[in-house]
Amino acid sequence: MKILITGATGFLGRDVASRLATEHEVTAAGGRAAPAGGIRLDLRDEGQLRSALAASAPDCVVHLAAYREPDVCEDAPEETRRLNTAPVAVMCGALPPAARLVFISTDYVFDGETPPYRENSPRRAVNVYGQSKIEAEDLALRRPGSLVVRIPLLVGAGPSFESSGFLAQIVRSLRDPSPQEADAVLRRFPTWIRDVAEAIAFLVGRGASGAVHYSGAEGLTRYEMVLQAAEVLGLPTDHIRPSARVVPRRAARPRDSQLATDRIRAMGFMRFTPFRDVVRSFAAEFAGR
Ligand SMILES: NC(=O)c1ccc[n+]([C@@H]2O[C@H](COP(=O)([O-])OP(=O)(O)OC[C@H]3O[C@@H](n4cnc5c(N)ncnc54)[C@H](OP(=O)(O)O)[C@@H]3O)[C@@H](O)[C@H]2O)c1
Repeated sequence: MKILITGATGFLGRDVASRLATEHEVTAAGGRAAPAGGIRLDLRDEGQLRSALAASAPDCVVHLAAYREPDVCEDAPEETRRLNTAPVAVMCGALPPAARLVFISTDYVFDGETPPYRENSPRRAVNVYGQSKIEAEDLALRRPGSLVVRIPLLVGAGPSFESSGFLAQIVRSLRDPSPQEADAVLRRFPTWIRDVAEAIAFLVGRGASGAVHYSGAEGLTRYEMVLQAAEVLGLPTDHIRPSARVVPRRAARPRDSQLATDRIRAMGFMRFTPFRDVVRSFAAEFAGR
């Protein structure tokens, strides 16, 4: 299959592009820069997007590019929709009917008050980021054959320690001996980017359509993740206390947006790497850092 992947330079996109390239003919697109052998494509520019679709003539578009920092999105709702929502409308209009659209969405389409959430649970976002994804999902799902994959908090190794997001933050706070607090309220389901890449390859290979949830299996607060990571890395935690108070931030966060994974399990996908093993792999990747 010829697959165009947007967001291929991102935290998740790098793994998705290299995984899909083992089976398919991939065109990888970055926003600010072209990845090796790929293209640069600013999705906010409708003309550029139409030209890229015409030039690559994909059988399938795996669309990951997005603004995904909720606080940044909250301050810039119009700009957020320019990237997170509008390009999906262009893709739906420009792609021939036989070409498939795979849209990567988030657990933040749910309000986090009544978990677990199934694929058909009512969506209600508590922030601009989640709302922009709901609007994009609606556009994608109106197109027959489209697939929407909802995923939660991603963990894993980026191209460098510094760009490894959540796990790098946790390791930094464990190594910093100053007294700190870690959120012990919001429940998250850390999910390994390599597992997500496998899940996407699996779903694309099956020709799945509609909404599908994929999520790590363990519900953990940030404090619990800190404890597990410390145990794996052999670091002390005496300087980190659990906080029963949610740190106020510009964008609201869902308390517990657990995604039920019965549908993908019933299809036969059973890879759910435990958080401790992800930390082990991260530590091996950045040994000595
Ligand atoms: N990270 C998470 O915890 C998480 C959780 C749930 C869902 N998701 C979803 O998973 C997807 C991937 O997330 P991620 O963590 O990999 O994000 P990321 O690391 O922030 O990567 C974002 C990607 O979007 C591209 N991009 C940014 N502006 C663009 C533009 N104007 N035109 C075209 N491309 C542009 C970036 O390219 P350049 O850097 O080259 O500009 C980059 O490749 C997103 O849809 C996100 O909503 C992520």
